Amino acid sequence: MVTKEQLLDAVRSIHDQEFLLDLVELHFIRDMVIKEEHVAATVLLSNESEDYRTTLENQITAAFQKVGAQEVHLRFRGVSEFDRNEASRKIQEAASAQKQADTPKEPTDHPVNAPARNILDAAEGVQFIAIASGKGGVGKSTVTVNLAVALARLGKKVGLIDADIYGFSVPDMMGIDHKPELIDNKIVPIERFGVKVISMGFFVEDNTPVIWRGPMLGKMLRNFFQEVTWGDVEYVLLDLPPGTGDVALDVHQMIPQSKEIIVTTPHATAAFVAARAGAMAIHTEHEIIGIVENMSYYKDSSGEKAYVFGRGGGGKLAEELHTELLAQIPLGAPDNHPAESDYSPSVYKAESETGNLYKELALKVINK
Ligand SMILES: Nc1ncnc2c1ncn2[C@@H]1O[C@H](COP(=O)(O)OP(=O)(O)O)[C@@H](O)[C@H]1O
Ligand SMILES: [Mg+2]
Repeated sequence: MVTKEQLLDAVRSIHDQEFLLDLVELHFIRDMVIKEEHVAATVLLSNESEDYRTTLENQITAAFQKVGAQEVHLRFRGVSEFDRNEASRKIQEAASAQKQADTPKEPTDHPVNAPARNILDAAEGVQFIAIASGKGGVGKSTVTVNLAVALARLGKKVGLIDADIYGFSVPDMMGIDHKPELIDNKIVPIERFGVKVISMGFFVEDNTPVIWRGPMLGKMLRNFFQEVTWGDVEYVLLDLPPGTGDVALDVHQMIPQSKEIIVTTPHATAAFVAARAGAMAIHTEHEIIGIVENMSYYKDSSGEKAYVFGRGGGGKLAEELHTELLAQIPLGAPDNHPAESDYSPSVYKAESETGNLYKELALKVINK
């Protein structure tokens, strides 16, 4: 006779769409009753979509039958607030366990990088570029998105991970209005302007704030690498969380082979704050490719440049970090209109002046 253990083992490879852990770990398969070869169970759904329910029903039924169940009867119900909290707690536990397992027992040559050495094994030959800033609001996400699109316009295969887990904004900025599909239990990134995008924003409902802290981030980002079908990508850009807090440090450590671009505004104090992000990059042994100065100037209709946010911050920062000032992007929103079929609030058109600056930036990045 088939046992409960066999049945649970059989579904361990099936992951919940929102929480991304497997259903058994989440305790999302409950009330299992086994009578001879008949199995009944309750399955918790984090998501109300009919498709998701059908997919799970098929997967679980097939898995149960494979280990000997003759007849499978599944009941479904949505997760309660309590289930949600429990699931979040489980994720945190899993993440801290993972973190401990990753911590090397013996000192190595690169103690800082060691904890996450295995995370990107699958990503050989991919160039990771993390986009960092000293603080929020300087245009880090705008630069990430437009550099990714510019690389794609130059024929490169590009992925973008919105790693700003608590302040994700990439889906909105690119005008992405649907969520990714799961195929064979892997998340398929959303392709927009030729860029494969994955964001925490895809996994929360109605823009609810993400309450997961610390260790959860590690788990989440691991999932972004390991549970996502990236296919063939040459460049993966990461929109890092702003600043130099724990979260940013975690991400740095998780992608030891990443290179880095630092975004600042031209004001001297902004550049000073951005220098801390640079120090963190150096600390985690990431090579800094260069600086992007955003909101550098405003060009009025006569072509005259006004340096509304000060001047020279990017250049000074580049000097300080012994790197190059790669681009100076002017103030000005993209000339896009909601009525356009490929509308996005933040992607500059290829032929626009700023679009061209991003193309030059992309060419520099390719040549580095
Ligand atoms: N060059 C620019 N000109 C005008 N607005 C900009 C520019 N760069 C960014 N912004 C706007 O400034 C705000 C902050 O940019 P964002 O990319 O979200 O910054 P961060 O990711 O650093 O927090 C957004 O509303 C964005 O549209
Ligand atoms: Mg941002």
